[in-house]
Amino acid sequence: MIVALNNKCHFTKNEFALYKEQLKNLHHEDTKIILFPSNIYLSNNIEGILMGSQNVSAYGTGSYTGEVSAEQLKALGVKYSLVGHSERRNLFCETSQDANRKITQLLDNDITPILCVGENEKTKVASDVIINDLKETFTNLTPENIKKIIIAYEPTWSIGTGIIPSGQEIKAVVNHIKEYYPNNLILYGGSVNDENIETLDKENVVDGYLIGALSLRLDKIQLLINKIEK
Ligand code: PGA
Repeated sequence: MIVALNNKCHFTKNEFALYKEQLKNLHHEDTKIILFPSNIYLSNNIEGILMGSQNVSAYGTGSYTGEVSAEQLKALGVKYSLVGHSERRNLFCETSQDANRKITQLLDNDITPILCVGENEKTKVASDVIINDLKETFTNLTPENIKKIIIAYEPTWSIGTGIIPSGQEIKAVVNHIKEYYPNNLILYGGSVNDENIETLDKENVVDGYLIGALSLRLDKIQLLINKIEK
């Protein structure tokens, strides 16, 4: 199981130093923990934890002020990168074409993209919206490369709201994605916490979870991991 911790834009230098110490004490056995901190903390090496970037430039290294390239991330030892998180799509107007370019940059640098997709409003046609988005994002990628991408199903209406789809609803969407992309790992994200994890995990359809708000509370993350590993 993968537990991906998306810190978003949180933690000052001293707060992160404390968080890092707590992270070292996190007990986990076969769960793969990937930390997505602010870029400024990506050079930290934390034993037992893999590093991921919350974003990557759609361009290579060069005259792109404010950007961080996949090549730079690779040199830091970053193994994963989120692409197309709903906050990037909604606040920074990122499109599927941007996601496509970012994925290409990442794959060229041996970094695994975690592509976030999800419907904006609770709708019965969620699966179709998602499949269309995936098809558009994967334009011109080889089947070999498509397989390397981890898909994170994150209904936008569930992110940071405390409202989650039922296990059955998640299962329906995930199974629909698997009909088209049977070889990709799939995560669920959106208001996952140490209480609802049991219900979610019971369905046993996803390969892990992408966690935002709760990632800031490692005491709660420990409880969540204990439940997953039980
Ligand atoms: P949340 O965020 O866990 O706070 O809902 C998930 C995400 O944004 O990936």
